[in-house]
Amino acid sequence: MSALEITGLTVDLPSGGQILHGVDLVVEAGQIHGLAGESGSGKTMTGLAALGLLPRGARTGGRIMLEDAPADLLALSPKELNSLRGKAISMVFQDPSTSLHPMLSIGRQLTDHLRHHLRLDRKTARARAVELLTQVRIPNPEAALGRYPHQFSGGMRQRIAIAVALACDPKVLIADEPTTALDVTVQAGVLRLLRRLCDELGLAVLLVTHDLGVMSALADTVSVMRHGRVVETGPRTRVLTAPEHEYTRALLDALPDHTPTGPVDSPRSTS
Ligand SMILES: Nc1ncnc2c1ncn2[C@@H]1O[C@H](COP(=O)(O)OP(=O)(O)OP(=O)(O)O)[C@@H](O)[C@H]1O
Ligand SMILES: [Mg+2]
Repeated sequence: MSALEITGLTVDLPSGGQILHGVDLVVEAGQIHGLAGESGSGKTMTGLAALGLLPRGARTGGRIMLEDAPADLLALSPKELNSLRGKAISMVFQDPSTSLHPMLSIGRQLTDHLRHHLRLDRKTARARAVELLTQVRIPNPEAALGRYPHQFSGGMRQRIAIAVALACDPKVLIADEPTTALDVTVQAGVLRLLRRLCDELGLAVLLVTHDLGVMSALADTVSVMRHGRVVETGPRTRVLTAPEHEYTRALLDALPDHTPTGPVDSPRSTS
């Protein structure tokens, strides 16, 4: 089976009625699956559903299966979900400060996480923390352990948030607009990092972005959402050069430098 399989996902919120109307989405190991679509189309809700983090009172239908978990995530208890989150599936958000505590050193945040979830002893947790910071290319990782989030630039903070998300070795990473809040000059580095982690670790990445430029540079597979449904899905080269759905074509035409039938760059690059 695939790393993440979402089938017929519906979500009803007490305050908002039905916001997802049957989402189908499959994310493969070692691939970046780009999820695009207009604001309010349900991209974030789909990601939150896969993590069991929907707003209180949400009612769900359909199925969410992880290769790494025995059962439908939608049927698990909060306690069971809690133990899967971080280990089987993890998430990075638009704003790295969502994942990082401002008052705790980077080392403390990483090692607390590792000691709590993986029951590592202090020394092993510290070694793993250094390994993780190295993996996300934080310069001088030993020294970085003693520093605080505000002492890093936005791009470095997002790299650290990615390290925290990967600490327990999840197989699936949901990245919801991970570079939107970053300076354009550092966006590319963080995106290349995601590509590299995906290739090296065989991670399955669901990359939520409204930026089709990012999609064309990075994604293997692209899905487009509209009004709580996936309206088109397929290999990036096909979806971005020969879209079948009228809405995908409209999104593409909205790109400033879009040439409808032009070649698309290779997604593979190193960082
Ligand atoms: N807490 C909430 N209560 C009620 N409705 C909500 C809540 N959060 C989101 N919604 C609604 O759910 C729908 C899907 O929202 P979602 O945040 O998933 O969209 P999105 O595709 O991520 O948009 P964006 O690109 O702006 O991030 C929208 O109609 C939104 O108004
Ligand atoms: Mg969103």
